[in-house]
Amino acid sequence: LKLERNLKLTPGEPDSSLFPIRDWQRALAKSAKLPCTQLGYRTQGQEKLQNSIARHLAVFRSLIVDPSRIILTSSTRQSLLLAATLYTDAGDNALVETPGYLGAAEAFSAMGLALAGCEVDAGGPQLNSTTGSVKIAYLTPCFQFPMGMPLSAERRNAFLELSRVHGTVLFEDDYDSEFRDQSQPRPALAAQAEACGAHVLHAGTFSKLVFPAARVAWMVVPQPHVDMAWQCLRSLGGGHGIVSQTTICELLDSGAISRHLQRARQIYSQRSQVLNECVARSDVVQSVEGGGLTAVLTLNNSISISTLEKKLKEKRLGADPLERYRWPKHHARKTRHVVIGVGDVDSLTLPNTFKQLEGVIKSCK
Ligand SMILES: Cc1ncc(COP(=O)(O)O)c(C=O)c1O
Repeated sequence: LKLERNLKLTPGEPDSSLFPIRDWQRALAKSAKLPCTQLGYRTQGQEKLQNSIARHLAVFRSLIVDPSRIILTSSTRQSLLLAATLYTDAGDNALVETPGYLGAAEAFSAMGLALAGCEVDAGGPQLNSTTGSVKIAYLTPCFQFPMGMPLSAERRNAFLELSRVHGTVLFEDDYDSEFRDQSQPRPALAAQAEACGAHVLHAGTFSKLVFPAARVAWMVVPQPHVDMAWQCLRSLGGGHGIVSQTTICELLDSGAISRHLQRARQIYSQRSQVLNECVARSDVVQSVEGGGLTAVLTLNNSISISTLEKKLKEKRLGADPLERYRWPKHHARKTRHVVIGVGDVDSLTLPNTFKQLEGVIKSCK
């Protein structure tokens, strides 16, 4: 777990300076006017925001859901805890991608689940024959985190089949699909699920769409589970965030978020281009995968993980060896892959920051 923030090249960190602060302040001023009758404990989410998120999902993700099925949480982490509370008991088996988002492994472990890693290759996470008894599986089907590839059609079907036959709940973390400038948007797994009787929880967050401090996220649950989900959310300390929910609702309805998305997409894709150029010129980095906010560099040679981590810290760089994203925790001594973020470095400073990273890599044996 990384406690020190504001390090350059931190994976997953969006550029919080890109969101138009005037729009944020205007929206916040609206929520400051909420009548006190709305400031108490709540038994369900703000309907207006549920409607706005449903429209957002239809436009950006081609996902049509009844707004009442959208449970409003404070973060993907809280959505993961909620999913585990709703559908599992301590000791049940859970799957996470490896390498993958450690927040998922941490949330499921905190709920007492027995975790197994689902090895990721070029087609995304692969199922093996022992996965029948799995209660819940965490997936990033559109852009595997951190590698960036989509879950192949064949694997999508295999996971949907696992869910249909064994009742495994598939947690689809759609953490930043809206940002990817794809000519052909990758369909959400949840869009395929209903037709085949699989159980997919589609989860999203405003941490990247606005910034992490917004603290609003969502998870779509089946209609019969809606009341239970709100009840469980309250047991996790959530469900009462009307102030931040009203702010986000205002930003969605005024078009501020979609304007920001259009601009941010261009800026992030420019950064990816600059990164590709840096890699093409590099004599220590062979290639780059991923894109969006996070990318994975393949080095020409393996280097010592402990030296790399020590030197990255000294230079205040937030990059990580890929082994840090593995579950169970990996004890390899050498790595050839480094995970970096481009959310917090602009195109002009990126070449210089990349040079610093190359210097670190060169100094490691
Ligand atoms: C794959 C992935 N999912 C979710 C999140 C975090 O979302 P939230 O801030 O809503 O917990 C991150 C943050 O870096 C992430 O990398």
